Order: sequence, then C-alpha cells, then structure tokens
Amino acid sequence: MEILGIDVGGSGIKGAPVDISTGLLTAARLRLKTPKGAEPEAVAQVITNVVNHFAWNGAIGIGFPAPIKHSIVKMAANISPAWVGLNVDAFLSSATGCPVTVSNDADVAGLAEMKFGAGKDQPGTVILVTLGTGIGTAIFHGGRLLPNCEFGHVQINGHDAEAQASDAARQRDELNWKKYARRLSRFLMELEKLFWPDLFIIGGGISKDHQKFIPLLKVEAPVVPAQFLNEAGIVGAALAGSNQP
Ligand code: BGC
Repeated sequence: MEILGIDVGGSGIKGAPVDISTGLLTAARLRLKTPKGAEPEAVAQVITNVVNHFAWNGAIGIGFPAPIKHSIVKMAANISPAWVGLNVDAFLSSATGCPVTVSNDADVAGLAEMKFGAGKDQPGTVILVTLGTGIGTAIFHGGRLLPNCEFGHVQINGHDAEAQASDAARQRDELNWKKYARRLSRFLMELEKLFWPDLFIIGGGISKDHQKFIPLLKVEAPVVPAQFLNEAGIVGAALAGSNQP
C-alpha cells in the first residue's frame, strides 16, 4: 500500500509516495521551500503543490513541527501562531481534497526508525532527537510511542534547549563541531539523567554529518544516526497516515 508522506519543516516541505510495507520511497522526493512565516494558508498551498506534483488522490500522512493532540495544533514554536487551535487534519484534508492525518514530525520520524531503521527490534527505551530549525523528540518503550514529548523546550541554563542545541543554533552561532557537540551533550545528558534510555537516535538534516559530532558526544547510552537520515520524516508520516479509518 502506498501513502503520500509529507514532512513540513522550518525551511523545506518534502514529500514522496512511500510503500508502507517496506518503508521505501516509490518516486524521487520533491522539496519545496517553506513559505516565510509558515502561515496556514501559504503552507496549505505548498502542500497542495506537492500533492499535485505526484498527481496524488489517496491517503496522505503529514509530519508537522508542533504537538498535535486529537488533530488540534497545541503550540507554535517555529511556525505561525495562527496554527494554534486549528483542526489541522480537517484544514489540510479540505485544502488537498484527500484524507490527511497530521502528527508531530519527530514522533513520525521515530515511528519510521523503530519499524525499519536504527531502533528496529530495540525493546528498551529509545529517544529519537531531530536536529533542525528546532529540536524534536520522540520517546519509545517496548516499541510503543508516548506522543508529543516536547523535550526540545526543556530549560538549560534558563534557555530553551532548542535555542542552544538545534542545527539552526549551530549555524547561527557559527559553532565548530567540537563546540556544538559540547552543547548537544548538555542536552542529551539532561535527558539521560531523567529517562536512562538504552539508545539515542539522531535525525534531521544534520544526521548526514553524524561522523563529525556523534563520536564527540558524552552520554552513557549509545548514540546512532537515523538510518533514514533526513527521510525518516517522510517515511514515518506515511506510516502514520496509513492508520486513518
Ligand atoms: C516543536 C516540536 C517539533 C520540533 C521539531 C519544536 O519547536 O515544538 O513540536 O517536533 O520543533 O520540528
């Protein structure tokens, strides 16, 4: 079964049809720019452009950079505040004309990694961390997700962790890999102290550079890159989109 998976990020909106039994993309992915300000109407238009590009007419799963509780956007850190309170499944189903299921972006990236990737067959506690414009997190135990964990907003020295240790913060502060690894370690150590995971998985665009910073991290649990690298979001969005009635 194929589902169109779409990953809405701070800088790009990426999509591709996914075979959900294998986790493989069945066509080359399309990446379009996230409109400035990420206002609902403008984002819906870009999503519709992705849908039209693939001449898609079936179920769609979308990973979205916010906590989503029973289809309602609860908070806006890196998107327009106009999303908060919106029933995002209904809004995007009506914009695209297709049945749409929207879930938190890190949660769906985690689903893909647990089913097909770096967390496959891991029975213990796994924390996936996506590093991009913000920091997204997903926590699993026994393969089951606890949705909408927002550890990127944990306070470290009075600052949101994502303001210090996201990939955007690394670029903003022009940090070399050693300095960045120190900041990221602070964050992961905080999570380790609270949850004692068996494994950390690092996703997001930065995961393609994993050799430059993962070996420098100072946590007890093993840290591995997402096997799908930055495509975990598309694959996981499709998996979550397959659960609709
Ligand atoms: C949002 C999360 C999201 C993360 C990554 C954070 O700012 O609050 O919901 O998962 O960014 O996009």
